[in-house]
Amino acid sequence: MLPDLPADDEMRISTPRLDLVPLTEADADDLFPLLQDPELGRFTGESPPADVQAVRAGFARWEARRSPDGTELWLNWVLRRRDDDRAIGYVQATVGDGDAMIAWTIGTAFQRQGFATEAGHALIAWLRDILEVPLIVGSIHPENVASQTAARRIGLRPTDRLHEGEVVWEFVSSD
Ligand SMILES: CC(C)(COP(=O)(O)OP(=O)(O)OC[C@H]1O[C@@H](n2cnc3c(N)ncnc32)[C@H](O)[C@@H]1OP(=O)(O)O)[C@@H](O)C(=O)NCCC(=O)NCCS
Repeated sequence: MLPDLPADDEMRISTPRLDLVPLTEADADDLFPLLQDPELGRFTGESPPADVQAVRAGFARWEARRSPDGTELWLNWVLRRRDDDRAIGYVQATVGDGDAMIAWTIGTAFQRQGFATEAGHALIAWLRDILEVPLIVGSIHPENVASQTAARRIGLRPTDRLHEGEVVWEFVSSD
């Protein structure tokens, strides 16, 4: 069964350095400059957005928190550094009936500081504890070493399954 749509308050997640805040259209202004770096799409194949309006339109669609056909929850969080409230990236969870696929993007200037690891760890705990999702996966390009390193640190392990040419990684609980 698909979990109930979480309310804003339920979606707020905090880590030692970050606040994960439900993403809204208004976050486009802060995230657009980060998303302009073509390097972010090196492994995902995504192109930089054409303009800030395109980012706003995309984020506005995500605010519904459901796929258009209603079969999935599409949950997105902007990552804000608590020190200075700076938006440093975003994380996503596509929640279906019995599973969730997670994804992460950290602006180039903020990479290699453990932010994906920190946010991903908290996101997995939230998906398990609050939404009670039994299976958590991610799909990672075979050459995306940064994503693989962070994924391994938060308890994901590679499987022999492929998703759109990428390797499916699966969360394996240590408890
Ligand atoms: C993948 C991504 C989210 C990682 O974010 P991050 O905040 O830099 O990740 P972390 O700092 O938590 O961990 C990454 C680790 O990989 C290491 N790393 C980064 N790039 C690397 C590379 N090219 N080769 C080897 N190790 C690398 C980092 O140094 C870090 O390890 P360390 O803590 O020992 O230094 C970020 O690189 C990103 O947004 N990439 C573009 C979008 C993308 O590919 N998303 C993932 C789709 S599966």
